[in-house]
Amino acid sequence: MKILITAGPTREPIDPVRYLTNRSSGKMGYSLAAAAAKRGHEVLLISGPTSLDLPERVDYLPVESAAEMYQAVESQIGRHDIAIFAAAVADYTPAQVADQKIKKSGEQLTLTLEKTKDILGSARTVMKFEGTLVGFAAETEHVEENARGKCLRKNCDVVIANDVSRKDIGFDSQENEVMLVFPDRTENLPKESKEHLAYHLMEMIENLRPS
Ligand code: PMT
Repeated sequence: MKILITAGPTREPIDPVRYLTNRSSGKMGYSLAAAAAKRGHEVLLISGPTSLDLPERVDYLPVESAAEMYQAVESQIGRHDIAIFAAAVADYTPAQVADQKIKKSGEQLTLTLEKTKDILGSARTVMKFEGTLVGFAAETEHVEENARGKCLRKNCDVVIANDVSRKDIGFDSQENEVMLVFPDRTENLPKESKEHLAYHLMEMIENLRPS
């Protein structure tokens, strides 16, 4: 099967030398890409900036900002059977990017942010994707409830939820412990390395039928 995977953080430029980002290392998405390729799938990894080595036999489309990731996904998703959104995409971006480095002046600096486009939320509606759609949910509270809301609103087949208030899992850690939130049921998986977990997640995802 052909599988598109998003991974890593995005960088939202403020001026030529500064940006807003988050703590995603890319490891969860890269582990999924490696597992999918090992299981014989054709994989396209669309990733924000990370320091990770590219997994073997994976096609790679590097992006920086949420807007670039949106465009890359929109142009590629139609060729894929499965799309997995593990990237930590910025929800807001600076409304204006300064042409020159912003000079230090005054005691406070106010940045105005505007909403980015929701890539996962556009997959079914705008991009008309009909394959298996897998979202992630990075939550700090009401994990199952919030993830189910995302699953139903964005018409996903499953949302993989992690509690990112924990230091030992989620962002920038070697291990993860996730909850599989389907439209009508929930399954808890044990904590394990992101590599092993990715393998188990790929097995589960392969067996889902497009909705
Ligand atoms: O990269 P690691 O260090 O290994 O960490 C892994 C992880 C914590 C980043 C990963 O497991 C994870 O939870 N990824 C999703 C992070 C996230 O942004 O979650 P969210 O709940 O804010 O977003 C929900 C879903 O919408 C996600 O599938 C996200 O990719 C997608 N999204 C969000 C915003 C946006 N503008 N477009 C999107 O497609």
